[in-house]
Amino acid sequence: MSRPGPLARRLGVLISGRGSNLEAIVDAIARKRLDATIAIVLSNRPDARGLQLARDAGLEARCLSPRGYTDRDAYDRALADVLGSCRVDLVCLAGFMRLVGQPMLDAFPDRILNIHPSLLPAFPGLDAQKQALEHGVRITGATVHLVTSALDAGPIVLQAAVPVRDDDTVETLAARVLVEEHRLYPEAIRIVLDGRWSLDGRRFVRHF
Ligand code: GRF
Repeated sequence: MSRPGPLARRLGVLISGRGSNLEAIVDAIARKRLDATIAIVLSNRPDARGLQLARDAGLEARCLSPRGYTDRDAYDRALADVLGSCRVDLVCLAGFMRLVGQPMLDAFPDRILNIHPSLLPAFPGLDAQKQALEHGVRITGATVHLVTSALDAGPIVLQAAVPVRDDDTVETLAARVLVEEHRLYPEAIRIVLDGRWSLDGRRFVRHF
C-alpha cells in the first residue's frame, strides 16, 4: 500500500472548453469548502471559455497549444514543466480533451485527478452521457478518479449516481450529471489533498 500523507495545496487545473468544473472548484475555494489555491489554469485550446473565466477570477491562465511540439511526449513534458514551475502539487483535469502521457504521470505520480460523466468503468471515452442513454441504463452518474496510463480507468476516489429518466435526452441527462460533477469534484480534491488515503491495488482506500 502506498500512503501519500497530506499534500501541499497548490492546484493546476487543465481545461479545453467550457470550464464549468473549474468554476465549481473556484467557487468551493471562495466559499471555504475547499482549502486550496489554484496556481495555474492551462488550456490546450486558445478559445476555451474557461480561460476567460479563470482570468476574470484573477487566476493565472495560459494556453499551451500542442501545435509547436513534435510529439505527445514533448507536449507532456512542456505541460509538466509549466506546472512544476508554478509549484503545483495536484493536477486536476477538468474537461481536458487530451490523453495524459508518461512524462506527466512521472512528474505527478498519483497526483492527477480527472472527472468523467459516467459511473466508470461503464462508458469511458467520449460522449459518455450519450453512451449511457443509448445503452439504456437506468442509473448513470459521475466519477472522479486518479489518472493512470489507461483511459478513464484509474483508482476511483468518488462517484455519484444519477437516475436516467424515460424522457431524457442527452442534453437533459448531461445537465443533471453536471450538477453532480460540480458537487463531487471539489469534495474529491479535498479528500485527496487531506492525504488520509492509500492505494490497495486499484482501490482508493480512505482512513478515518
Ligand atoms: C465534463 O462533463 C467532464 O466530466 C468531462 O468534460 C466535461 C467538461 O465540462 N470530462 P466543463 O468544461 O468542466 O464545463
